[in-house]
Amino acid sequence: MTTESPGHRNTAYRNFEVAPISGALGAEVQGVDLSQKLADETVEDLRAALLDHLVIFFREQSLTPQQQIDFSRQFGELEEHDFVKGTEEHPEIIRILKEADEKGMNFGGVWHSDVTHQKSPALGSVLYAVEVPPFGGDTLFANQYVAYETLSSGMREMLDGLTAIHTAEGPFGPHGRSLTNWRNMDVETSEKALEQTEHPVVRTHPETGRKGLFINGTFTVRFKNMTRRESMPLLRFLLKHASREAFTCRFRWARGSVAFWDNRSVMHYALNDYTGHRREMLRVTISGDRPY
Ligand SMILES: [Fe+2]
Repeated sequence: MTTESPGHRNTAYRNFEVAPISGALGAEVQGVDLSQKLADETVEDLRAALLDHLVIFFREQSLTPQQQIDFSRQFGELEEHDFVKGTEEHPEIIRILKEADEKGMNFGGVWHSDVTHQKSPALGSVLYAVEVPPFGGDTLFANQYVAYETLSSGMREMLDGLTAIHTAEGPFGPHGRSLTNWRNMDVETSEKALEQTEHPVVRTHPETGRKGLFINGTFTVRFKNMTRRESMPLLRFLLKHASREAFTCRFRWARGSVAFWDNRSVMHYALNDYTGHRREMLRVTISGDRPY
């Protein structure tokens, strides 16, 4: 079942069903076991489902790290994180872990897309739930096509010509927040995080051709040829607009759930409302193209 709405496209899939979870974006895929070798047409249709719904979810999966890698590799090359070390056996997999006794900020608790400090940020990420709290720890996703399309023509025109400066300095620079947070994750802060990258504020999706907002609450620090002080009011407005309730969906995790999001058309936000409980996820990141 699919629904025609600004957030979803309709495609007939051959080997599985999809059920949208909100009007804005996001759909559960039913009838695919990710631990098995998938038929080419299933992989092709999953890619279509990702483009149609922006983030797709799978329930009750049971994946070894190698199976998570094998599944993800069918959608592109995998990459290692610049600042979070992968697991010993699988450098492409990072463990996102918050222990029950950890307080303070969680990993991903800001509206963002992944690794936009890179010249070619990720196509997408595949996140697998190993252990989830009894309540809380949901992830929110926001449709950035609709965020762009609902702006006024004057604002869209101005943003079309604007370039943003992205850097990983905030979380991963020498004075990064990671010095005091994420103590159970293998995060390395470094001078390398001070590098700046330019991206268009409005990005054309390389596969759908649709334009979307491409700003980031973690990595966008200002607009090109503007000071930070000049940039912040507009950036704050855009982040608030881009995460308006009507543009979002909210995913409730269970052990074995998988989320696969298109990092080029959504932002996401990891809620930090489960202090006193442990949450462990494994993430694989698929390489993407240079935004234009
Ligand atoms: Fe993220």
